[in-house]
Amino acid sequence: MTKEDQNIHPDDSARLMERRPHVIWFTGLSGAGKSTLANLLDRRLRTRGIHSFVLDGDLLRTGLNRDLGFSDADRSENIRRAAEVARLMADAGLVVLVAFISPFRRDRDAARALFAAGQFSEVFLDTPLAIAEQRDPKGLYARARRGEIPQFTGIDSPYEAPASPELRIDTATCTVDEALELLMQHIVVQVERP
Ligand code: ADX
Repeated sequence: MTKEDQNIHPDDSARLMERRPHVIWFTGLSGAGKSTLANLLDRRLRTRGIHSFVLDGDLLRTGLNRDLGFSDADRSENIRRAAEVARLMADAGLVVLVAFISPFRRDRDAARALFAAGQFSEVFLDTPLAIAEQRDPKGLYARARRGEIPQFTGIDSPYEAPASPELRIDTATCTVDEALELLMQHIVVQVERP
């Protein structure tokens, strides 16, 4: 083994990418726009030469997290695994866009604790329940109101809003383009910090 083989460090991945890795942790109700914004942002970042990757709750629940349901304990485990994967991806030098409801403050705080100061941004997509329910893109709120989906966030399972997120975006009044612009400005500063 040569000396180089022994000295691999996450900082080397960041240098290779010529950017500081960062985690954008989207939290908000179902229908707040987490996946939509994360995917559009992913495209914009790549266009700007910033290598990013989306971790989406709905998708991870079909694979890595398919053994988990929606009890409080399962949601905590869901967030713990997502945070650990995000950390690996950040160590690989990526900007990671995490889109999970992540309804509990303690779970989001535990996720944040895995990262260095300044490497993790909590982005609260602040959408009133009435608006998320009106959008109901997957028809889930209607089903939850009919009692077909128990423990649905906002209906019969709580959502704890972040007290001091790095960014709060009011998706009821802000257009998708405005939200993307805010996010791009925030990320560019984070990844290009010396
Ligand atoms: S989290 O609460 O554990 O963070 P996650 O983001 O992974 O949730 O998954 C949320 C998605 O699962 C929702 O967008 C919705 O499509 C689906 N879903 C199914 N059942 C529920 C439920 N009881 N509460 C919330 N979302 C649910």
